[in-house]
Amino acid sequence: MPTYIILLGPPGCGKGTQAKRLVDLTGIPQVSTGDLFRAMKTMDTPLAREIQAMMARGELIPDATTVSMLADRLEESDCRENGALLDGFPRTIPQAEALDDLLAESGQRVSKVLYLDITEEEAVRRVSGRRSCPTCGRIYHVAFDPPKVAERCDDDGAVLSQRADDQPDVVSERYQLYLEKTAPLADFYRERGILVEISAMRPVDEITPEMVAAIQG
Ligand code: AP5
Repeated sequence: MPTYIILLGPPGCGKGTQAKRLVDLTGIPQVSTGDLFRAMKTMDTPLAREIQAMMARGELIPDATTVSMLADRLEESDCRENGALLDGFPRTIPQAEALDDLLAESGQRVSKVLYLDITEEEAVRRVSGRRSCPTCGRIYHVAFDPPKVAERCDDDGAVLSQRADDQPDVVSERYQLYLEKTAPLADFYRERGILVEISAMRPVDEITPEMVAAIQG
């Protein structure tokens, strides 16, 4: 039976970090709209170029484009069988309504929304120190979770990269946009009785078991 879980929270709250752990612990695939958009950077089309420019400015991609890309991903066999850990989607009320409609087509619905909250100051601290492996996607932080060899992935030795939208001024823009467009989703799902609030101002290892318990509970 597929299970659909939403990871909700501001930039840097740990959605991607936790999702990667939860894939192994629950068998549910991670579906990150941010990762799907970043993967388009090798595509040489006007739409792909416009998406990369919008992301670098910290803007949201239009709902119709985002929903269409997500719908295609949810059609793939791993999601049809196991569901999805939705990392970065939905980000607006219209996206949440579109997700309801998409899942209803196959008799499914969102099971739980795990809400990881952090302050703006913490978001800037975490995101500005983030590094990622371009090969395997592993996420590091220069202070909180550094690689063993500076700027190299522990798993495959690739040179770590920094996202264009992780500059402090862009992170602040993204955080403000989060407050305006995405934070209202907490009430949307709270009213439905499926919101689980998990304090994200703690070490990664303390948060993961609470998330697993919430998914399995
Ligand atoms: P996206 O990639 O989704 O970015 P985001 O939501 O802003 O979230 P982040 O990836 O910045 O943070 P995270 O919560 O995953 O934190 P992480 O685990 O990496 O979206 C990027 C862009 O794509 C958007 O701006 C938009 O343009 C577009 N987009 C994507 N989805 C869209 C949608 N649905 N609609 C429209 N546009 C969309 O952790 C961050 C750092 O903190 C890491 O260094 C990590 O090591 C560290 N860390 C994590 N947890 C902890 C902890 N507990 N303690 C200390 N450090 C920690």
